[in-house]
Amino acid sequence: MTDNNHRPVARIAGTGHASGTRVLTNFDLERMVDTSDEWITARTGIKERHLVENGTVTSDLCSDAAKQALADAGLSAENLDYIIVGTVTGDMKFPSTASILQSKLGAYNASTFDISAACSGFIYGLDIADSLIRSGRAETILVIGAEVLSSMTNYQDRKTCVLFGDGAGAAVVTRSDDDRGILSTHTGSNGDLAHLLYCDGGGSLKPAMNRDLPFEDFTLRMNGNEVFKHAVRIMDHAALTALEKAGISPSDVDMFIPHQANIRIIDAMAKRLSFSRDRIMINIDRYGNTSTASIPTALNEARLAGRVREGDVVLVAAFGGGFTWASAVFRM
Ligand code: UT7
Repeated sequence: MTDNNHRPVARIAGTGHASGTRVLTNFDLERMVDTSDEWITARTGIKERHLVENGTVTSDLCSDAAKQALADAGLSAENLDYIIVGTVTGDMKFPSTASILQSKLGAYNASTFDISAACSGFIYGLDIADSLIRSGRAETILVIGAEVLSSMTNYQDRKTCVLFGDGAGAAVVTRSDDDRGILSTHTGSNGDLAHLLYCDGGGSLKPAMNRDLPFEDFTLRMNGNEVFKHAVRIMDHAALTALEKAGISPSDVDMFIPHQANIRIIDAMAKRLSFSRDRIMINIDRYGNTSTASIPTALNEARLAGRVREGDVVLVAAFGGGFTWASAVFRM
């Protein structure tokens, strides 16, 4: 857990997002596994997800999202001191996707690294960026959440394949010189719950060179029901902690952007925190669960649609594999 935050020092100066260009609808999935549009819609809120075409990799999505965020901030790639990418589906095992992205952007003044915090990765990155700027070690940081989850989804497993999509969301974080900026961040983890959501093939536990391993070991596996039970409680705790650290209540929040994992989780949280639908950003119906990309994607869409404006107070909260969780409050 990290503790910080008093007055804004760092702010989000630009955002962008990119998603896969291949749309996979619930009706497409009906032809692939034993499922139905009715079940998926009722149990998850998802109608379609965007997947990448063959040959498109995570850093490609990052690059698209990053260019938009830099243009939005009025900055160029040379201004970046750090590139931080939250991902569990990077282009390669190493080097980091952030390093590959650095080359694609020509951001040669930046230090680069990836974060493995699953769906919480983007907010973990925001927390680190805020700390680096607060400490005076950096002025401008690109934070991205990006996944090509289709690269580790088992499209024969109806329990998981209906859920996930591919995407990237980016934010350029710079020093703030007014009251706009990051008011609080909160991060946490519980490794005892790691077995509920994981992919254990391809690491040192089950090396890819072991040809006897089944295909499923290289795909995402989840005990959805158990994850669901923890999700609302954890998201609730994360959101309330960030609000408390920022010294504000849910009624002060103009827009709540929760991780888009399941509409039932979002609705349960909304009820507990008394957020009406007009103060919650929801795009799970169109993208599915894009893990760490979901919050920055929703933030960018909310800004483009005029639902989040300059000066608005935004609350973001996520949870995911690890378990990890993270939240933040910022004034746009
Ligand atoms: O971002 C990472 C964090 N992940 C999450 O937040 C996911 C959290 N979990 C969930 O969103 C939900 O647990 C799921 C959407 C994954 C599953 O919904 P559920 O209501 O928990 O369903 P369930 O796993 O309890 O399964 C209920 C039934 C089962 O059938 P039986 O055993 O009752 O006959 C499943 O086999 O639904 C069946 N089922 C399906 N039926 C049609 C599971 N997946 C499907 C499917 N289509 N795609």
